[in-house]
Amino acid sequence: MPELELFRRYPETRALDHIELASLPTPVDHQQELGAELGLAGLWIKRDDKTAPLYGGNKVRKLEFLLGHALAQGRNAVWTVGAIGSHHVLATCLYARQAGLDPHALHFPQPLTDHVREVLRALSTTRPQLELASSKNTMPIKLAKRRVSEWLSRTENPYYIPGGGSAPRGVLGYVNAALELARQIDNGELPVPDVIFVAAGTCGTLAGLELGCRLAELPCRVVGVRVVDKVLANPLVTANLANRAGKLLAEHGVSVPKIRASDIEMIDKYFGPGYGQQTPEGMAAIKLARSYSDIELDPTYTAKAFAGLMQYDAGSQRQMKNMLYWHTLSSSDLSELVNKADIDSNLPAEYQQFFVESS
Ligand SMILES: Cc1ncc(COP(=O)(O)O)c(C=O)c1O
Repeated sequence: MPELELFRRYPETRALDHIELASLPTPVDHQQELGAELGLAGLWIKRDDKTAPLYGGNKVRKLEFLLGHALAQGRNAVWTVGAIGSHHVLATCLYARQAGLDPHALHFPQPLTDHVREVLRALSTTRPQLELASSKNTMPIKLAKRRVSEWLSRTENPYYIPGGGSAPRGVLGYVNAALELARQIDNGELPVPDVIFVAAGTCGTLAGLELGCRLAELPCRVVGVRVVDKVLANPLVTANLANRAGKLLAEHGVSVPKIRASDIEMIDKYFGPGYGQQTPEGMAAIKLARSYSDIELDPTYTAKAFAGLMQYDAGSQRQMKNMLYWHTLSSSDLSELVNKADIDSNLPAEYQQFFVESS
């Protein structure tokens, strides 16, 4: 596997804890037909759905640094949080178990769909220690934070990975990803995109891309399409994460620009009625992507992000623009894991209610 672009460019950063989980670089696909349908000069898709065969998507790059750090600290378990259908919780539990770390997760409720059930079935194969928060603990966000603290306080010095893996070390995965893209541009695989679109949940992906593009001096706009509540995803949170990741890099000899909240471009209007709830724009994006490409979008994250791209800058400038959509949803086939699922033995009794209609 080629060395991470971050390490190649800044050799001192090789001292950062890291384990190899992803197959990098991920491809960039030129989507001619879809781009033409959208009236763009060009459309490219960065295929982070293919970061790893076991389970792809955007969590893998973050976990390389987070689990690398947990192992370097001599830990034997990790703790994390997310909604019951969280891709982050699934990825963390899968890769933690693979790395010899016991996974623990605190789950919050979300609308139940077949996709959520599939995630839970796959999760059961990791034999996680799970706890389910009640819907009373979700809003306001202060209550959820209190619930997480209470859960963590029952363990002495837990290695905690925050929701979405959006800790400064996780963000480094996406700084590297932007540098990787810059290399692909240098290699002639694509032109410099005018705009990069990505879903913004816990904002670590967006923060890393923004910082990485600055380091690579790529003159593109990075646009986050907000897919969670505004208290969680906003320019301030994103800039703060980028700067904390920047501090880690500065400690390893990298000259890092400061990111201000006003540097972060975030679009709010595709969020819809709530987290995990479908929107008409998102459903139209799913349909369009299916008709013109092999890209499968999900209603919670990637469909909303793609809907943002579809309608961005609808003026006359649009046909001059090259856009890049950063695809963050795993496209790994989960059927093998789902077939091995043992929801009766490996999920707590209160999770059985989620499978009543589907079984
Ligand atoms: C498929 C997918 N895309 C995008 C995101 C958002 O990434 P981030 O939390 O880094 O903003 C997530 C987060 O869970 C996700 O699962």
